[in-house]
Amino acid sequence: MDYHSIVLAHRVLVTAFLLHYVWKTFLLVGNKKETLAAYTAKTRIAEMVVSLFFLLTGFYLIYAGPALSTLQWIKIAMVFASIPIAIIGFKRGIKPMAIVAVLLIVGAYGLAEMNKAKYKKMDKAPVDTSTAAGDPVAIGKEVYTAKCVACHGDAGDAGLGGAKNLKLTTLTDDQQKDIILHGKGGMSAFPLPDDQLNGVVAYIKTLKQ
Ligand code: HEC
Repeated sequence: MDYHSIVLAHRVLVTAFLLHYVWKTFLLVGNKKETLAAYTAKTRIAEMVVSLFFLLTGFYLIYAGPALSTLQWIKIAMVFASIPIAIIGFKRGIKPMAIVAVLLIVGAYGLAEMNKAKYKKMDKAPVDTSTAAGDPVAIGKEVYTAKCVACHGDAGDAGLGGAKNLKLTTLTDDQQKDIILHGKGGMSAFPLPDDQLNGVVAYIKTLKQ
């Protein structure tokens, strides 16, 4: 499975897990004890499988994905905090604990979406390259450090988030520019101004040496 199938699998599993817990909390808070007991019994194995794969895909994404932002670390902390709270809350039927656990998971989901939106906006924002004084490689380095290292790494070969190794790229300048401007697969579009686009392509050449 490639990186992006795992991202997709993680999202599907998270959504299933979230809906399942929202429903369980709804039953607990609504005092539907028997329905909750029956639902819990019926979904026990499915819940174990879903939570196991939800965590495994999550660990894989921490390990193989782009460098994590603060929002993403907070999200992960919220998910881990929710686990013992949910287990105790549902086992003992403590409503506020169940609600807190579900709110933590919903909040984590919200943070993940916020993080995505924030990065989309950042990808579109120009970089301040005024200190590079017109030198294309210096401009490129600033752009690269601001926008590309999260996946390609300092040396160009980190390969996070399924990123291609830039030290080994055989693409022409124009093909590289096309991918940078329009994105491809797991790489988003970076609509850079001409000097920054030319600069970053010049900088990628220096990574090959
Ligand atoms: C979110 C992670 C991510 C970020 C950030 C990112 N890339 Fe990529 N990059 C990728 C992925 C994934 C691919 C492989 C795309 C494919 O072929 O499906 C790739 C491919 C490329 C390629 C094509 C290499 C080849 O040989 O096919 C170039 C060039 C490139 N990136 C340059 C950049 C530059 C320049 C930046 C910063 C402006 C950047 N990337 C930021 C993930 C990223």
